Amino acid sequence: MALDIPFNRPYVARRTEEYLREVLAAGKLAGDGRFGERCRGLLEAQLGSLRVMLTTSCTHALEMASLLLELGPGDEVIVPSFTFVSTVNSFVLRGAKPRFVDVRADTLNLDESLLEAAVTPQTRAIFPVHYGGVGCEMDVVLAVAAKHGLAVVEDAAMAIGASYRGRPLGTLGDFGALSFHETKNITCGEGGALIVNRSEFVERAEIIREKGTDRSSFMRGEIDKYGWVDVGSSYLPSDLLAACLLAQLEEVESIQARRQEAWERYDAGLAGAVAEGLIETLAIPEECQSSYHLYGLLLANGEIRQRVQSRLREGGVQTTSHYQPLHLSKMGASWGEGAGSLPVTEAACERLLRLPLYNEITALEQERVLDLLLTVLRGI
Ligand SMILES: Cc1ncc(COP(=O)(O)O)c(C=O)c1O
Repeated sequence: MALDIPFNRPYVARRTEEYLREVLAAGKLAGDGRFGERCRGLLEAQLGSLRVMLTTSCTHALEMASLLLELGPGDEVIVPSFTFVSTVNSFVLRGAKPRFVDVRADTLNLDESLLEAAVTPQTRAIFPVHYGGVGCEMDVVLAVAAKHGLAVVEDAAMAIGASYRGRPLGTLGDFGALSFHETKNITCGEGGALIVNRSEFVERAEIIREKGTDRSSFMRGEIDKYGWVDVGSSYLPSDLLAACLLAQLEEVESIQARRQEAWERYDAGLAGAVAEGLIETLAIPEECQSSYHLYGLLLANGEIRQRVQSRLREGGVQTTSHYQPLHLSKMGASWGEGAGSLPVTEAACERLLRLPLYNEITALEQERVLDLLLTVLRGI
Protein backbone atom coordinates (compact mmCIF):
# COMPACT_ATOMS: atom_id res chain seq x y z
CA MET A 1 0.00 0.00 0.00
CA ALA A 2 1.25 3.49 -0.90
CA LEU A 3 2.23 5.73 2.01
CA ASP A 4 -0.58 8.25 2.13
CA ILE A 5 0.41 9.85 5.42
CA PRO A 6 4.08 10.79 5.02
CA PHE A 7 6.29 11.51 7.98
CA ASN A 8 6.85 15.07 6.76
CA ARG A 9 5.32 17.30 4.13
CA PRO A 10 7.17 20.61 3.68
CA TYR A 11 4.91 23.64 3.93
CA VAL A 12 4.90 26.33 1.23
CA ALA A 13 4.08 29.68 2.85
CA ARG A 14 1.52 31.96 1.22
CA ARG A 15 3.87 34.62 -0.14
CA THR A 16 6.69 32.29 -1.27
CA GLU A 17 6.14 32.63 -5.02
CA GLU A 18 5.56 36.38 -4.84
CA TYR A 19 8.84 36.87 -2.94
CA LEU A 20 10.77 34.55 -5.27
CA ARG A 21 9.52 36.53 -8.28
CA GLU A 22 10.67 39.75 -6.57
CA VAL A 23 14.20 38.40 -6.10
CA LEU A 24 14.37 37.21 -9.70
CA ALA A 25 13.05 40.52 -11.02
CA ALA A 26 15.58 42.48 -8.93
CA GLY A 27 18.38 40.33 -10.38
CA LYS A 28 20.25 40.18 -7.07
CA LEU A 29 20.46 36.54 -6.12
CA ALA A 30 23.53 36.40 -3.86
CA GLY A 31 23.50 36.40 -0.06
CA ASP A 32 22.65 39.26 2.32
CA GLY A 33 20.32 40.90 -0.19
CA ARG A 34 16.99 42.56 0.64
CA PHE A 35 15.30 39.35 1.76
CA GLY A 36 18.26 38.14 3.78
CA GLU A 37 18.27 41.45 5.64
CA ARG A 38 14.54 41.25 6.30
CA CYS A 39 14.91 37.70 7.67
CA ARG A 40 17.72 38.85 9.91
CA GLY A 41 15.62 41.75 11.21
CA LEU A 42 12.63 39.51 11.89
CA LEU A 43 14.68 36.83 13.62
CA GLU A 44 16.50 39.36 15.77
CA ALA A 45 13.15 40.87 16.79
CA GLN A 46 11.54 37.47 17.43
CA LEU A 47 14.49 36.20 19.45
CA GLY A 48 15.41 39.51 21.06
CA SER A 49 18.99 38.57 20.29
CA LEU A 50 22.06 40.67 19.76
CA ARG A 51 22.83 39.38 16.27
CA VAL A 52 21.52 36.68 13.95
CA MET A 53 23.40 35.61 10.82
CA LEU A 54 21.67 33.47 8.22
CA THR A 55 23.71 30.46 7.19
CA THR A 56 23.40 27.72 4.59
CA SER A 57 22.52 25.17 7.31
CA CYS A 58 22.49 24.57 11.04
CA THR A 59 25.56 22.39 10.41
CA HIS A 60 27.39 25.46 9.12
CA ALA A 61 26.19 27.64 12.00
CA LEU A 62 27.66 25.07 14.42
CA GLU A 63 30.90 25.00 12.42
CA MET A 64 31.11 28.78 12.64
CA ALA A 65 30.66 28.60 16.43
CA SER A 66 33.49 26.07 16.69
CA LEU A 67 35.75 28.28 14.55
CA LEU A 68 34.91 31.36 16.63
CA LEU A 69 35.70 29.53 19.87
CA GLU A 70 38.96 28.32 18.30
CA LEU A 71 38.29 24.77 19.40
CA GLY A 72 41.15 22.55 18.34
CA PRO A 73 43.50 19.66 19.12
CA GLY A 74 43.74 18.94 22.83
CA ASP A 75 40.28 20.40 23.56
CA GLU A 76 37.27 18.45 24.77
CA VAL A 77 33.62 19.31 24.28
CA ILE A 78 30.80 17.89 26.38
CA VAL A 79 27.95 16.80 24.12
CA PRO A 80 25.12 14.27 24.15
CA SER A 81 25.64 11.13 22.09
CA PHE A 82 21.91 11.30 21.33
CA THR A 83 22.15 13.93 18.59
CA PHE A 84 22.68 14.45 14.88
CA VAL A 85 26.24 14.09 13.59
CA SER A 86 26.50 17.82 12.81
CA THR A 87 26.61 18.84 16.48
CA VAL A 88 29.79 16.82 16.94
CA ASN A 89 31.33 17.15 13.46
CA SER A 90 31.42 20.93 13.95
CA PHE A 91 34.27 20.70 16.46
CA VAL A 92 35.73 17.33 15.40
CA LEU A 93 36.51 19.05 12.08
CA ARG A 94 38.70 21.44 14.04
CA GLY A 95 40.49 18.64 15.89
CA ALA A 96 38.62 18.81 19.21
CA LYS A 97 37.27 15.65 20.87
CA PRO A 98 33.74 14.87 22.04
CA ARG A 99 33.10 13.78 25.60
CA PHE A 100 29.77 12.04 25.28
CA VAL A 101 27.26 12.23 28.13
CA ASP A 102 23.97 10.46 28.61
CA VAL A 103 20.51 12.02 28.30
CA ARG A 104 17.55 12.27 30.67
CA ALA A 105 14.93 9.55 30.24
CA ASP A 106 12.01 12.03 30.33
CA THR A 107 13.10 14.60 27.69
CA LEU A 108 16.07 12.88 25.98
CA ASN A 109 18.00 16.09 26.63
CA LEU A 110 21.54 16.09 27.99
CA ASP A 111 21.40 14.94 31.64
CA GLU A 112 22.51 18.03 33.55
CA SER A 113 23.33 15.97 36.66
CA LEU A 114 26.20 14.31 34.74
CA LEU A 115 27.88 17.51 33.57
CA GLU A 116 30.07 18.29 36.54
CA ALA A 117 31.67 14.83 36.47
CA ALA A 118 32.34 15.10 32.72
CA VAL A 119 34.47 18.24 33.06
CA THR A 120 38.23 17.64 32.72
CA PRO A 121 41.17 20.09 32.51
CA GLN A 122 40.81 19.83 28.68
CA THR A 123 37.12 20.78 28.57
CA ARG A 124 36.46 23.99 26.60
CA ALA A 125 32.75 23.93 25.85
CA ILE A 126 29.35 22.32 26.31
CA PHE A 127 27.06 21.80 23.29
CA PRO A 128 23.55 21.14 24.67
CA VAL A 129 20.95 19.95 22.14
CA HIS A 130 17.34 21.01 22.73
CA TYR A 131 15.77 17.78 21.60
CA GLY A 132 12.47 18.20 19.77
CA GLY A 133 12.50 21.89 20.66
CA VAL A 134 12.25 21.31 24.42
CA GLY A 135 14.88 23.16 26.40
CA CYS A 136 17.72 21.48 28.29
CA GLU A 137 18.01 22.44 31.98
CA MET A 138 19.89 25.59 31.03
CA ASP A 139 20.23 26.99 34.58
CA VAL A 140 22.45 24.04 35.44
CA VAL A 141 24.27 24.00 32.07
CA LEU A 142 25.11 27.70 32.40
CA ALA A 143 26.14 27.37 36.06
CA VAL A 144 28.54 24.48 35.31
CA ALA A 145 29.91 26.41 32.31
CA ALA A 146 30.44 29.57 34.38
CA LYS A 147 32.11 27.64 37.21
CA HIS A 148 34.65 26.05 34.85
CA GLY A 149 35.01 28.87 32.30
CA LEU A 150 33.41 26.89 29.46
CA ALA A 151 31.65 28.21 26.38
CA VAL A 152 28.08 27.11 25.64
CA VAL A 153 26.82 26.48 22.10
CA GLU A 154 23.11 25.63 21.97
CA ASP A 155 22.11 23.29 19.18
CA ALA A 156 18.64 24.73 18.67
CA ALA A 157 18.14 23.03 15.27
CA MET A 158 14.57 22.07 16.20
CA ALA A 159 13.86 24.87 18.62
CA ILE A 160 12.67 27.96 16.78
CA GLY A 161 9.84 29.51 18.78
CA ALA A 162 10.73 27.57 21.94
CA SER A 163 11.90 29.03 25.23
CA TYR A 164 13.32 28.20 28.65
CA ARG A 165 12.01 30.27 31.58
CA GLY A 166 10.66 32.71 28.99
CA ARG A 167 13.98 33.14 27.16
CA PRO A 168 14.14 31.96 23.53
CA LEU A 169 16.30 28.87 23.03
CA GLY A 170 19.49 29.73 21.21
CA THR A 171 19.88 33.01 23.10
CA LEU A 172 21.03 31.64 26.46
CA GLY A 173 24.53 30.40 25.61
CA ASP A 174 27.38 32.15 23.80
CA PHE A 175 25.97 30.95 20.48
CA GLY A 176 22.83 29.25 19.23
CA ALA A 177 22.28 27.42 15.95
CA LEU A 178 18.91 27.09 14.16
CA SER A 179 17.96 24.84 11.25
CA PHE A 180 15.62 25.65 8.38
CA HIS A 181 15.96 22.23 6.76
CA GLU A 182 12.92 20.84 4.94
CA THR A 183 11.93 18.80 8.00
CA LYS A 184 11.83 21.76 10.41
CA ASN A 185 8.90 23.95 11.55
CA ILE A 186 10.19 26.87 9.47
CA THR A 187 12.02 25.95 6.30
CA CYS A 188 13.67 27.17 3.12
CA GLY A 189 14.74 23.67 2.05
CA GLU A 190 18.28 23.89 3.41
CA GLY A 191 19.25 26.74 5.72
CA GLY A 192 20.12 27.84 9.20
CA ALA A 193 21.17 30.72 11.39
CA LEU A 194 23.90 31.47 13.87
CA ILE A 195 22.73 33.41 16.90
CA VAL A 196 25.61 35.41 18.33
CA ASN A 197 24.94 36.38 21.93
CA ARG A 198 28.26 38.05 22.77
CA SER A 199 29.24 41.33 21.12
CA GLU A 200 32.96 40.49 21.04
CA PHE A 201 32.27 37.73 18.49
CA VAL A 202 30.13 39.70 16.04
CA GLU A 203 32.86 41.23 13.87
CA ARG A 204 34.83 38.00 13.50
CA ALA A 205 31.65 36.01 12.83
CA GLU A 206 30.87 38.34 9.91
CA ILE A 207 34.37 37.80 8.54
CA ILE A 208 34.37 34.01 8.91
CA ARG A 209 30.96 33.88 7.21
CA GLU A 210 32.27 35.95 4.26
CA LYS A 211 35.21 33.70 3.26
CA GLY A 212 37.56 35.33 5.74
CA THR A 213 37.11 38.80 4.23
CA ASP A 214 35.82 42.09 5.65
CA ARG A 215 33.25 42.32 2.85
CA SER A 216 30.37 42.92 5.32
CA SER A 217 32.02 46.18 6.48
CA PHE A 218 32.61 47.13 2.84
CA MET A 219 28.92 46.50 1.97
CA ARG A 220 27.90 48.82 4.82
CA GLY A 221 30.21 51.50 3.38
CA GLU A 222 32.56 51.43 6.39
CA ILE A 223 35.67 50.73 4.27
CA ASP A 224 36.39 51.48 0.60
CA LYS A 225 37.68 48.04 -0.40
CA TYR A 226 37.67 44.62 1.19
CA GLY A 227 40.35 41.99 1.55
CA TRP A 228 41.35 38.68 3.09
CA VAL A 229 41.80 39.22 6.83
CA ASP A 230 41.15 35.85 8.52
CA VAL A 231 40.17 32.23 7.90
CA GLY A 232 36.63 31.67 6.73
CA SER A 233 34.30 30.00 4.31
CA SER A 234 31.11 30.71 2.36
CA TYR A 235 28.24 30.44 4.82
CA LEU A 236 25.72 32.85 3.22
CA PRO A 237 22.49 31.55 1.73
CA SER A 238 21.29 33.02 -1.56
CA ASP A 239 18.55 35.65 -1.43
CA LEU A 240 16.32 33.13 -3.25
CA LEU A 241 16.40 30.96 -0.12
CA ALA A 242 15.97 34.01 2.09
CA ALA A 243 12.81 34.89 0.11
CA CYS A 244 11.34 31.44 0.90
CA LEU A 245 12.42 31.83 4.52
CA LEU A 246 10.89 35.27 4.96
CA ALA A 247 7.51 34.03 3.73
CA GLN A 248 7.64 31.38 6.48
CA LEU A 249 8.99 33.61 9.24
CA GLU A 250 6.10 35.99 8.67
CA GLU A 251 3.75 33.12 9.52
CA VAL A 252 5.72 31.79 12.47
CA GLU A 253 2.95 32.30 15.02
CA SER A 254 0.25 30.47 13.08
CA ILE A 255 2.71 27.70 12.15
CA GLN A 256 3.64 27.15 15.80
CA ALA A 257 -0.02 27.24 16.87
CA ARG A 258 -0.93 24.58 14.29
CA ARG A 259 1.94 22.35 15.40
CA GLN A 260 0.96 22.74 19.04
CA GLU A 261 -2.62 21.76 18.19
CA ALA A 262 -1.41 18.69 16.27
CA TRP A 263 0.98 17.73 19.06
CA GLU A 264 -1.79 18.01 21.65
CA ARG A 265 -4.14 15.91 19.52
CA TYR A 266 -1.59 13.07 19.51
CA ASP A 267 -0.94 13.51 23.20
CA ALA A 268 -4.62 13.31 24.13
CA GLY A 269 -5.17 10.37 21.78
CA LEU A 270 -2.32 8.41 23.33
CA ALA A 271 -3.09 9.09 27.01
CA GLY A 272 -4.92 5.75 27.30
CA ALA A 273 -1.99 3.79 25.84
CA VAL A 274 0.34 5.51 28.31
CA ALA A 275 -1.98 4.60 31.21
CA GLU A 276 -2.07 0.98 29.98
CA GLY A 277 1.74 0.90 30.02
CA LEU A 278 1.99 0.25 26.25
CA ILE A 279 4.13 3.30 25.54
CA GLU A 280 5.92 6.18 27.23
CA THR A 281 5.82 9.72 25.89
CA LEU A 282 8.33 12.55 26.23
CA ALA A 283 7.91 15.23 28.87
CA ILE A 284 7.85 19.01 28.52
CA PRO A 285 9.14 20.40 31.85
CA GLU A 286 7.16 23.27 33.33
CA GLU A 287 9.93 25.81 32.67
CA CYS A 288 9.95 24.98 28.93
CA GLN A 289 7.78 26.24 26.10
CA SER A 290 8.18 23.67 23.33
CA SER A 291 8.43 24.35 19.60
CA TYR A 292 6.33 21.19 19.14
CA HIS A 293 8.77 20.09 16.50
CA LEU A 294 8.14 16.38 16.89
CA TYR A 295 5.94 13.84 18.58
CA GLY A 296 8.02 10.97 19.90
CA LEU A 297 7.02 7.91 21.88
CA LEU A 298 9.00 5.09 23.42
CA LEU A 299 8.02 1.47 22.82
CA ALA A 300 8.94 -1.39 25.12
CA ASN A 301 12.01 -2.40 23.09
CA GLY A 302 13.64 -2.25 19.67
CA GLU A 303 11.96 -5.36 18.34
CA ILE A 304 8.49 -4.05 19.18
CA ARG A 305 9.35 -0.70 17.62
CA GLN A 306 10.29 -2.43 14.40
CA ARG A 307 7.06 -4.42 14.37
CA VAL A 308 4.93 -1.34 15.08
CA GLN A 309 6.77 0.67 12.45
CA SER A 310 6.27 -1.97 9.73
CA ARG A 311 2.60 -2.46 10.60
CA LEU A 312 2.07 1.29 10.34
CA ARG A 313 3.91 1.34 7.01
CA GLU A 314 1.66 -1.46 5.72
CA GLY A 315 -1.29 0.73 6.72
CA GLY A 316 0.09 3.69 4.73
CA VAL A 317 1.60 5.64 7.65
CA GLN A 318 5.26 6.61 7.59
CA THR A 319 7.09 6.95 10.92
CA THR A 320 10.77 7.36 11.72
CA SER A 321 13.16 6.66 14.53
CA HIS A 322 15.88 9.05 15.65
CA TYR A 323 19.64 9.05 15.89
CA GLN A 324 22.11 6.23 16.12
CA PRO A 325 24.06 6.53 19.39
CA LEU A 326 27.11 8.48 18.23
CA HIS A 327 29.38 6.85 20.81
CA LEU A 328 28.69 3.49 19.14
CA SER A 329 28.90 4.71 15.52
CA LYS A 330 31.82 3.84 13.24
CA MET A 331 33.13 7.41 13.50
CA GLY A 332 32.35 8.10 17.16
CA ALA A 333 33.35 4.79 18.74
CA SER A 334 36.98 5.78 19.23
CA TRP A 335 35.92 8.53 21.67
CA GLY A 336 33.17 6.59 23.41
CA GLU A 337 33.36 4.07 26.19
CA GLY A 338 31.53 1.30 24.35
CA ALA A 339 28.14 -0.37 24.59
CA GLY A 340 26.46 0.01 27.96
CA SER A 341 28.28 3.23 28.84
CA LEU A 342 25.31 5.53 28.05
CA PRO A 343 22.30 3.33 28.85
CA VAL A 344 19.50 5.90 28.48
CA THR A 345 20.79 6.98 25.05
CA GLU A 346 21.23 3.40 23.87
CA ALA A 347 17.71 2.39 24.96
CA ALA A 348 16.10 5.53 23.51
CA CYS A 349 17.72 5.02 20.11
CA GLU A 350 16.23 1.50 20.02
CA ARG A 351 12.80 2.40 21.36
CA LEU A 352 11.94 5.83 19.93
CA LEU A 353 9.27 6.20 17.27
CA ARG A 354 8.33 9.56 15.73
CA LEU A 355 4.84 10.07 14.34
CA PRO A 356 4.00 12.12 11.23
CA LEU A 357 3.90 15.79 12.21
CA TYR A 358 3.90 18.67 9.74
CA ASN A 359 2.41 22.12 9.57
CA GLU A 360 -0.62 21.11 7.50
CA ILE A 361 -1.40 17.72 9.00
CA THR A 362 -5.17 17.41 9.35
CA ALA A 363 -7.22 16.11 12.29
CA LEU A 364 -8.48 13.35 9.99
CA GLU A 365 -4.95 12.24 9.12
CA GLN A 366 -4.01 12.22 12.80
CA GLU A 367 -7.10 10.18 13.67
CA ARG A 368 -6.03 7.59 11.11
CA VAL A 369 -2.54 7.48 12.59
CA LEU A 370 -3.94 7.13 16.10
CA ASP A 371 -6.54 4.48 15.20
CA LEU A 372 -3.97 2.35 13.43
CA LEU A 373 -1.30 2.85 16.09
CA LEU A 374 -3.64 1.95 18.95
CA THR A 375 -4.90 -1.14 17.13
CA VAL A 376 -1.33 -2.27 16.49
CA LEU A 377 -0.21 -1.52 20.07
CA ARG A 378 -3.11 -3.41 21.62
CA GLY A 379 -2.56 -6.41 19.33
CA ILE A 380 1.13 -6.78 20.04
C1 LIG B 1 20.18 18.31 16.61
C2 LIG B 1 20.52 18.66 15.20
N1 LIG B 1 21.55 19.48 14.96
C3 LIG B 1 21.90 19.84 13.70
C4 LIG B 1 21.20 19.37 12.61
C5 LIG B 1 21.64 19.76 11.23
O1 LIG B 1 20.78 20.69 10.64
P1 LIG B 1 20.99 21.13 9.13
O2 LIG B 1 20.37 20.06 8.27
O3 LIG B 1 20.25 22.44 8.99
O4 LIG B 1 22.43 21.29 8.89
C6 LIG B 1 20.11 18.50 12.81
C7 LIG B 1 19.36 17.99 11.66
O5 LIG B 1 18.25 17.58 11.73
C8 LIG B 1 19.77 18.13 14.14
O6 LIG B 1 18.78 17.25 14.39
